[in-house]
Amino acid sequence: MTKAQFITLEGSEGVGKTTNLEYIESLLRDKAIDYVVTREPGGTDLGEQLRELLLGHQHTGMADDTELLMMFAARAEHLDKVIKPALARGQWVLCDRFTDATYAYQGGGRGIDPLRIKILEDYVQGDCRPDLTLLLDAPIEIGRERAGKRSAPDRFEKEQAAFFNKVRAAYLQRASDDSKRIKVIDASLELDAVKLQIDHQMQSFFNHLNSN
Ligand code: TMP
Repeated sequence: MTKAQFITLEGSEGVGKTTNLEYIESLLRDKAIDYVVTREPGGTDLGEQLRELLLGHQHTGMADDTELLMMFAARAEHLDKVIKPALARGQWVLCDRFTDATYAYQGGGRGIDPLRIKILEDYVQGDCRPDLTLLLDAPIEIGRERAGKRSAPDRFEKEQAAFFNKVRAAYLQRASDDSKRIKVIDASLELDAVKLQIDHQMQSFFNHLNSN
């Protein structure tokens, strides 16, 4: 049997992560794959508390490095309590955001040198990396309009367009640097067309696993 796989879903605000995460889950269930679904920042008690601090408005002037280190603190806990144990038990992990988000938001958005992020990635994760990442991509105006229709904006959603353009550019740069792992999905299309692309990527991922 193939080893349990680690799949992540990425994208900036309003690209439809929640709906499409549910769709990916349905594809895993169709294949009778045992999986856990989780998210970052969060996924553990401590991680969810860190999420509240990161997304809430109590610490609006948080230093960029504090934000970066809290993302990785939540990630260390998540890897220790959820991700690594699941993979070791043979359960696949489907995670709503992971370290590509750090490169995009703290790297691209905040301007932290990606080499510093890489040091933390290697330190916290060892050799643990996602096997497949689906990046939902849409022009930021589309995402922001959709996100704006939801609840009150969190600390990240309050950022200006320039920030989200940098986030998107950093995501796309990572996808072009690692096109084997990161698959870009055009999320500006209608939902059915987005699902079709996800389906296509997931089926080729399954086929690739079966051929090895
Ligand atoms: P979301 O998961 O509901 O989209 O919200 C999480 C927010 O946290 C989102 O704005 C992106 C941000 N984030 C980072 O800035 N860095 C990270 O490493 C992660 C995982 C999320």
